Amino acid sequence: MKNVLVTGGAGFIGSNFIHYLFKQKDFQGNVINLDKLTYAGNLESLEAIDKTYGEKGQGRYLFHRADICDYEAIEAIFRSRRVDTVIHFAAESHVDRSIHGPKDFIHTNIIGTFNLLEIARQQWSNEKIDNALFHHISTDEVYGSLGETGYFYENTPYDPRSPYSAAKASSDHLVKAYYHTYGLPITLSNCSNNYGPYQFPEKLIPLIILNALEGKPLPVYGDGLNVRDWLYVEDHCSAIYAIIRRGRRGETYNIGGESERTNITVVNRICEILEALYPIKKNPIIQKANPDIADYKQLITHVKDRPGHDRRYAIHCGKIKEELNWRPSVSFEDGLRETVRWSLENTRWINHVRSGQYQKWIEKNYQKR
Ligand code: NAD
Ligand code: TYD
Repeated sequence: MKNVLVTGGAGFIGSNFIHYLFKQKDFQGNVINLDKLTYAGNLESLEAIDKTYGEKGQGRYLFHRADICDYEAIEAIFRSRRVDTVIHFAAESHVDRSIHGPKDFIHTNIIGTFNLLEIARQQWSNEKIDNALFHHISTDEVYGSLGETGYFYENTPYDPRSPYSAAKASSDHLVKAYYHTYGLPITLSNCSNNYGPYQFPEKLIPLIILNALEGKPLPVYGDGLNVRDWLYVEDHCSAIYAIIRRGRRGETYNIGGESERTNITVVNRICEILEALYPIKKNPIIQKANPDIADYKQLITHVKDRPGHDRRYAIHCGKIKEELNWRPSVSFEDGLRETVRWSLENTRWINHVRSGQYQKWIEKNYQKR
């Protein structure tokens, strides 16, 4: 791992992974963060990394703004940086957006992944690169929807049901095909729902936290009894790190938090944690706009269900536990409290993301480099 190309490194999990990687004492390589900076990409999440490891620091971290669908641009980066490891996070990632407009999901998640695979295959066969690896980050949503019992295993047949999960499933198949057909050294992970710092507030947990702080309705789709298996993002990062160092080439590893919760349970718990850390009576926004509200839970609003809403996801992660001795280390309770605390303490990041100002910030700061 001398030159690690992280795609989508300005997004939620990618930025957490770059933080995680530089904290590992046995990692001495360079990181090239390749990101298009869509609405979900935010370089403010990596300010501290840029300061310490960027061009003005140790010179081990470099950011490239590029689209993974742009073959020539990616090929040039690959060649000039002598990339030996790809960790592929870049994707359109939100199910609701995929329902309203699937096109970008097809382009980025399928064509973008195809470009990366093709470039890796060509570069790594032209140049002798030791221990090259293409690690593909995927989701448990490719396996479909479960009833009240059962789990997703690595060999569960794919049954994607949203444009997002269908596009991710296509990319998984391409990655596996490149291993079987061309011998490209790949590993693949399918992970459950993540939460934690730097998550864009369109996903359930950050959306609920931020709406509650502003006294806005907390939208719960349908009956709120859909189940997700929640994993603290740092645990996802440690799982990826274990796979890229010790995982068997050509293998898929499921990653999960062993923390199944209904959506309504999650939303209620966020309200309780908020009340403990930032009591509603001390919240000036709510006190000014609506002093009658005495409990964050009063903001909970059941809304129309998402079309084709998968009922339950539950991942079996015995393989990664047994083979790589990985397990989730943060309980849902601790992780959720930490995430709420982080949201209360990182108001600049939150306010910029909420107001869309960070896009202007990116243009201004990025141009200066
Ligand atoms: P995110 O939406 O927060 O970040 C995606 C990043 O990819 C952004 O920085 C965006 O700018 C970048 N990007 C999008 N299109 C691009 C393109 N064409 N070229 C280059 N960069 C582009 O997503 P996330 O939640 O961090 O998810 C990262 C990966 O993990 C995705 O592949 C997703 O499918 C997978 N995953 C996510 C979860 C979850 O709960 N969030 C769970 C399992 C797997
Ligand atoms: P989400 O965070 O969008 O992740 P995913 O759809 O990939 O699992 O949604 C998590 C769950 O929360 C899902 O069952 C849909 C539900 N949900 C709501 O009830 N309200 C919301 O506002 C959002 C964004 C999601």
